Amino acid sequence: MIRSWEKEDAPVIARYANNRNIWINLRDRFPHPYSVENANEFIANALAKEPETFFAIASLKEAIGSIGFTFGQDVHRYTAELGYWLAEPYWNQGIMSEAIQILTEYAFEIHDLNRIYAEPYATNPTSAKVLEKAGFLYEGRLKANVHKDGRVLDQFIYAKTKNT
Ligand SMILES: CC(C)(COP(=O)(O)OP(=O)(O)OC[C@H]1O[C@@H](n2cnc3c(N)ncnc32)[C@H](O)[C@@H]1OP(=O)(O)O)[C@@H](O)C(=O)NCCC(=O)NCCS
Repeated sequence: MIRSWEKEDAPVIARYANNRNIWINLRDRFPHPYSVENANEFIANALAKEPETFFAIASLKEAIGSIGFTFGQDVHRYTAELGYWLAEPYWNQGIMSEAIQILTEYAFEIHDLNRIYAEPYATNPTSAKVLEKAGFLYEGRLKANVHKDGRVLDQFIYAKTKNT
């Protein structure tokens, strides 16, 4: 299920987020190592945001991942970027493909958005697959667009528009 973050999620989410296999596919602003203080700060920011755009992916027992979107600015103000990660023990069970579909539908319904996009690194075929499964279209490859962990990487662009 997708739900609002709760302060109590911090310890478990810090434990799952403290994983190089997750960090390697995300921006450098995602901390590594990832502490409970990092989780506290992230959850406080998510809860303070109006409107709420970052959510927990949760089992009945605990939070197991994160999904959210960031509005663009200026001429991109009707566009949002999607971001997500899932705790490694839960990978390859179809969880994120479903979460992306649900959140994208919600975002288009609640907000005045024309386009939602994601930019997985070319080294992350799983994320590309997940976006395709969630109905996003491949739009292209940004060559040498990322510097991550000492390597220059290409980046894919996937997007879904309101009326397609
Ligand atoms: C990317 C991520 C969110 C995927 O979540 P998930 O719940 O495991 O994804 P799903 O189970 O819905 O789908 C995964 C698909 O990728 C496929 N896959 C797995 N490894 C793969 C690989 N190396 N190459 C290609 N496809 C792969 C799976 O087979 C599955 O497709 P299928 O259902 O057709 O078999 C998760 O791996 C993660 O958190 N990774 C680290 C953070 C990250 O990459 N975030 C996104 C940044 S853009």
